[in-house]
Parts: sequence; structure tokens; C-alpha cells
Amino acid sequence: MGTAQPQMIYLKDYQAPEYLIDETHLTFELFEDHSLVHAQLVMRRNPARGAGLPPLVLDGQQLELLSVSLGDRELSAADYQLDDSHLTLQPTAQSFTVDTSVRIHPESNTALEGLYKSSGMFCTQCEAEGFRKITYYLDRPDVMSKFTTTVVAEQHRYPVLLSNGNPIASGPGEDGRHWATWEDPFMKPAYLFALVAGDLWCVEDSFTTMNQRDVALRIYVEPENIDKCQHAMNSLKKSMRWDEETYGREYDLDIFMIVAVNDFNMGAMENKGLNIFNSSAVLARAETATDAAHQRVEAIVAHEYFHNWSGNRVTCRDWFQLSLKEGFTVFRDAGFSSDMNSATVKRIQDVAYLRTHQFAEDAGPMAHAVRPESFIEISNFYTLTVYEKGSEVVGMIRTLVGAEGFRKGSDLYFERHDGQAVTCDDFVKAMEDANGVDLTQFKRWYSQAGTPRLAVSEAYDAAAKTYSLTFRQSCPDTPDKVEKRPFVIPVELGLLDSQGQGIALRLSGESAAQGTSRVISVTEAEQTFTFVDIAEQPLPSLLRGFSAPVKLSFPYNRDQLMFLMQHDSDGFNRWEAGQQLSVQVLQELIGQYQKGEALVMDARLVTALRSVLADDSLDQAMVAEMLSLPGEAYLTEISEVADVDAIHGAREFARRQLAEQLFEPLWARYQANREVSKVTAYVAESEHFARRALQNIALSYLMLSEQPAVLAATIEQFDSADNMTERLTALAVLVNSPFEAEKAQALAVFAENFKDNALVMDQWFSVQAGSGLPGALERVKALMQHPAFNLKNPNKVRALIGAFAGQNLINFHAADGSGYRFLADLVIQLNAFNPQIASRQLAPLTRWRKYDSARQALMKGELERIRASGELSSDVYEVVSKSLA
Ligand code: TRP
Ligand code: ZN
Repeated sequence: MGTAQPQMIYLKDYQAPEYLIDETHLTFELFEDHSLVHAQLVMRRNPARGAGLPPLVLDGQQLELLSVSLGDRELSAADYQLDDSHLTLQPTAQSFTVDTSVRIHPESNTALEGLYKSSGMFCTQCEAEGFRKITYYLDRPDVMSKFTTTVVAEQHRYPVLLSNGNPIASGPGEDGRHWATWEDPFMKPAYLFALVAGDLWCVEDSFTTMNQRDVALRIYVEPENIDKCQHAMNSLKKSMRWDEETYGREYDLDIFMIVAVNDFNMGAMENKGLNIFNSSAVLARAETATDAAHQRVEAIVAHEYFHNWSGNRVTCRDWFQLSLKEGFTVFRDAGFSSDMNSATVKRIQDVAYLRTHQFAEDAGPMAHAVRPESFIEISNFYTLTVYEKGSEVVGMIRTLVGAEGFRKGSDLYFERHDGQAVTCDDFVKAMEDANGVDLTQFKRWYSQAGTPRLAVSEAYDAAAKTYSLTFRQSCPDTPDKVEKRPFVIPVELGLLDSQGQGIALRLSGESAAQGTSRVISVTEAEQTFTFVDIAEQPLPSLLRGFSAPVKLSFPYNRDQLMFLMQHDSDGFNRWEAGQQLSVQVLQELIGQYQKGEALVMDARLVTALRSVLADDSLDQAMVAEMLSLPGEAYLTEISEVADVDAIHGAREFARRQLAEQLFEPLWARYQANREVSKVTAYVAESEHFARRALQNIALSYLMLSEQPAVLAATIEQFDSADNMTERLTALAVLVNSPFEAEKAQALAVFAENFKDNALVMDQWFSVQAGSGLPGALERVKALMQHPAFNLKNPNKVRALIGAFAGQNLINFHAADGSGYRFLADLVIQLNAFNPQIASRQLAPLTRWRKYDSARQALMKGELERIRASGELSSDVYEVVSKSLA
């Protein structure tokens, strides 16, 4: 938190660094009340910046400078300039060394950026700009250096001393201390630096690479968690093999380490050879982690591992290029998860998430392009747009050039840029060069923010046997005021005949049909495609697999959607047809609710879901997805003005209707699956995930009936399940039920059994914070006093406050503004000690434009109160000021 007004930084101002750092030699002396960092930087003038020796401006924040030397000469205060974020020196030769010693205070670092302590261990988080809180440095990703790191600490408290690369020496020191030296042979930017010192145990394994090199694999955790590492280890080995087979990428060091820490601002970090993970992204075993948690661990382990190539070997030139590594790596981990589990279900979940959350971001005050042009605080740009939309953009390139062409492009990218810090343009250029295509217009996806709309209309000419689809694209204004030009929108589509069969697709002018599903590129504001030889009026299946991140509209009626649900050959679009049907039905109910009419639900939704439930040939995970109604957050996103009460009331009404009318088949499927679960040992594999997913969604519907048999089944599942997936669902079902005594009993038993497991207690907090029953805010406030709660721990903040403000919309948006006031108070508190977490928790308030004028005024009032609350971090300042602009 500086005193000056935070400054905007622009991509257009990028300049290559004046100086380079060939070698970085670090020594850390770790103590309980301070730490010392000695750095020797072997530097030279950047030849690309020409002659002359401009001042050397090193980044550094919250450092106490003890000494600085240029070459052999120790400098005195008159020889350098120091302010709260820089140390400026005057070099006198092309090549030189800089030695600094600084004192820092990891023991009181609550921002969890730089060097800090978590549960008694030292650890680091340097991305994006945390290294400058460790030592004076050129803390920018285009300055790459070879690092050698020595860690010195008390042997007894910190028996394990780790850093990047390979261990090269270690030994005892004085006063019960010891030391270890690590050397990383690969050039890397400072944001990939890591250090760990603690009392840790490790699970060890090994992996033989495609070129028969042996790699030692280690997962370090606190001793009590040693039994929760096997799933992450399996995931790591699968990731390593998959990246060899799918992208030809081999691991490059002799050792790969993961360390789990309890206090972490994000999910995990890809530091070279030494990934540091939030313990929630590593630890998983049947008794304590849900299926969703197992899948999340698998995906994050893969994501961080894949960064070794997409991020580390080839890194970003500047932080505007963040999606170069994040969008691509999310795309890679999504491909991995699809191959490990059900590809269709993975796609459904990703699209539902993107449409709910990224589309909302794109429509709000923080909207930005996949490659932003400016920012105040880069930590605010680790967003759904950079990550998830960035992944969609990479996916569209793959759709356009084909799977083989994409692999050729990625091979060229990695080969051409190995060891370099590059841009999104370089990535696209490799794809163009490998495939002989021109992606100039396509690149607008990187520079234009906002979610494009794609309105489609049809015209069938029975006499000419032609069928035309007309596409009209547009993109709403965003705060950056960039003028929107047409995107390249790949639309995968098919046409169904009246029997539900795919029709051969021949476009006018083509000599032959090209299959029954194909990709067309919409490149103009308005464009018509005419198919020939179409013998009857077809029904189009559009945007199969969600081939572009757009809002597509086509005037389907409900019978047509039911037809697509049954017959579309594209599994994703079968689900999508069901979602659109549900949206239409729910919007009708919302309208009735608003007019004060009696709610009457279209019976076709029941009919459609009844046949889904009756279809034994469907993947059970698909059945579970199809039974899930669009969430309140998604219904909010697609509303012009979101009516919180009507959305909640209509959706709850629909859930009760479905529960009532589908009671028999839901109960049958619940019981069948629960019987299998009872006699099957827990396995973290997709077929088992699928069984439990259907079992659990069925149970949550069934409980709406409040029947004694269902209550008994829920309690049976809660008491005797051998895994957290079934137990937590039973708990959530009870918490959302009117059975007060059983609810209290289950909550107490659960808390007693798991009071020593922080990650399980997070689930316990979330289930209560997310309950839409009245009185949620009071419960959340009471839970903040629970001994297991801790505002300094980001997982706890997310579990309780994040779940309340992000998932409990009916209570958070209480008409009296109490939810808003509560959140603003917390953001003000968090701002003082963890700006990144404060800024992220603020997101729900930034959506104020979506609501009625009374709520708008209340939400804005809270944003203004935060703005006036005192000294704001750059993180919170940027979000608040953009939200009020
Ligand atoms: N590079 C990390 C990832 O996506 C993101 C990350 C981890 C991060 N910790 C952070 C970003 C702290 C900002 C601040 O895999
Ligand atoms: Zn990442």
C-alpha cells in the first residue's frame, strides 16, 4: 500500500529491459523474528537497448536495505537513490555485479505474497510481482536468469530446505542451524522462484520419461497429511505421460516437487521444479474429500505440471500476455481432464461455469480483453477472462486448423520459443506458420472485450430444396470503449431431419456434401450460409460442443428443444437443449411470480426429464447434469434486470414440482445407486463419480418432498457412507431441510468428527453459508466466531464469506442491504492485511448494475463506503474505482 495514487500501466508503453541478469545467487538466512536475503546479480547492459549506461532501476518493496555493492565497491547512501519501490544505481561498465543484503519479515507477512510463513513453515509466492518483496531485482518476466539458492535455517524446526532445480550441496551450520544449496539450470523469470523451509514429510515416487530418464517425484506435506497424497501423485504421473503423448512434452529436471501449504491466495503455483499448492488442491482421500475435490486436485496438478512447458520453458514477455500461458494451460488441462473422465460432462461443466461467471465479468465494470491493454494491479487480472475465455480462444484455433494442425502449431511454438519470453502474437504466428493460414481477423478475440451475440435465423425453400441460415453478430460496449469489429466465430453445426437423423451438409457452390456435422466460420457482421439438397424442413443443431464463447440465439420452440434433447448426435447440445428448455420454463415462471400470479410450470419439462431418467443407456453423469436446473447466478446473468426474489422463488418452485412429479423414478434411481455405493469401495474414477452424482442430485430433489422415508435415507447415508461425497451431500440436504433437530445433530456430529481437518471444516462452513433458508447472514456471522474460523486464512474466507456472497444470492441480496454491508465491512478489514483476497471477495458488489434501483443504490453505497474507508491497496482501489466509474 503506497501513499501515492496507484498508476495505470499500459501495454503500448512496453520496452525491453535496459539491463539483463545472467546469474542470480541468493542466500536466505531464516530466523523467527526476521530473515536476511543476500543477492548477487551478475548483470550486463541489454545489447538490444543499444549503447549507453542508463541508471539501473531495481524493483523492491518492504525491504530494509542493509548493504549494496556495485562490483567490489560498497556504496554509501550518496551513491544510490531509494524510494518505497525502487533502488536506483549508476553502473559504470557494460558488465557488472550487484550485491545487496536486505532484512525482511516473513513472520508478519499476512498478504501471502513474497516470502511468508504458513502453519510454521516458510514458503514463497512470487507471481506476479512478489519477488520484489524478497530482494531488489528486475522483477519482470522478460528478465530471465540462472538461479542458485542457499537456504540456512534452524535444523530442528526446518529440517526440509527446498528451492528450484536440483540439490547440489548441504551441510550443518552453527548454533543448531543447517543449510542446503539448490541450482536451477534453466533460465527463468523471478516470478517462478520458490523456497520452502519446514518440518515436512514427503511421499516419493518416480517417473520414467519417454527418453528413459528417471525423474524423482515428491509431494511434501505436514506429517498428519501424509495419507492424503496418493491421488495427487497418481494425477501427476498421468499428467506427465499425457503431456508426452498429446503434446510431445517431456519433463526436464531430475526431480519434481509439490509442497502443500495451508495459507495460499490461489489454487497453486508452477514454480520451476517446485510447485507450491494450496493444500486444498493436493490433499484428497475418500473419507475427507468429495468427488469434486478429487477432480479439482487432478486438474490443478495437471495444470501446474503443464506450465513447465506452457509458461516456464516458454514464458510471457510482460503481464499483458498472461493468457499466453494461462489460457493455453487451461486448454491443456481441460483436454487432460476430458481424456481422464467423460469428455462431454467436462465440457458441460466448463461451459456452464464460463457462461455463468466469465460472461458476467465480461458484462461488468472490470470487463477486459483476453490480452488487456492496461491495468493498475496485475493481481486483479488473474481472471475468468484471461483463464477460461483464453482457453476458449485457443480451442477455437484448434477448431479452425484441426487437431493435427494444432499439434504442428504447438510443436513449432515450443521449438521456436524455447527459453524465450514471448507474446500472444508469437503463439498465433506459430499456429499460422505451421498451417499456412491467416489468423489476422481471428486475433480480435485477444483485443476486444465483451461477449459477442450471435442471432441466427432460418429460411427453408421447399421448391429449391435449399435451407439458409443467417448469422448476425454484434458485441456490446465495454468500459474500454474499444470499437468492436466482427469476430471470426467458428460454428459447428448439423441439421436434423424429422426422424432425428443428421442430414448430409453441402453448401451451395460445393461439389459434394461434407459429413453431417461441420464447422463454418462466421466472419462478417451478417452472413448467410445456404445448404442444398435439403429434402424437408430441418431442425438445426447449432454451436455444437460450444464451439465459440458467444451468446447464440435461435427461435426454438419447446417441442423442438425436446426433440434435440432426444435426437441430437452431439451430447453437449442434447444437454444444451435441455438447459434452453429449462430457461424458457423458468423465465415463464419468473414472469408469473413478478405479476403475482399463481405459478404454473410447463409440463413438458417434467416429460423431458422423465425420459432422461428412464434412459438406462445414458451416462449417469449426463443424467445428473441434465437434471440440474440452470443456477440462480446464470439466470441473473441472462436477465436484463435480475429480480432476485422472482428468480429464487421460480427456481425453487420448479425444483419442488420436479421432485413431486418425478418422485418415483428419482427414488428408484437413488436407491439403486445407494445400494451399489454401499457395497463398493470408494474409487476416484468417472464411472463412480457418475453413480454418486446421480444418487446425490436425486437425494437433494427427493428431500424437497419432506417424506419420512427420504429423511431416513438421508440420515442413513450421512451416518454410514464411507466417503465425503455421500456424507457431505447428506449433510447439505439436511441443512437445507426443515428438520431442525436432525440438522443440528448432523452438523454437530460432523464438526466433532472433523474438527482437526481444516479442509473438511471448510466444507462444513460452505454448506451452511450457502443455504438459501432465511437467517443465513446471522448464521455466517455466528460461524465467524467458531474456533475453526480464521479470517487470515484465504480458504476459510472463501468457504464462509465467498460461499455466502457468491452462492447464496437470495440472502446476500436481502432487500435491507445487510448482506452488502457485511461484505463491505469484511473487504475493508481484509484490505488491511491481504489485498488480493480483499479484492476478489469484492466481485459480487461490482455487479450492481444488474439489479433493481433500490439494490443498485445500496450496493453503490457500500462501494463508496469502501472507497472512503482509508488507505486502499492498489488491488481494492482498482476494482472499486472501476466499479463506480
Ligand atoms: N500461475 C498460477 C496458476 O494459474 C496462478 C497463481 C498462483 C497466482 N498464485 C498466485 C496469481 C498468486 C496471482 C497471485 O497456475
Ligand atoms: Zn496457471
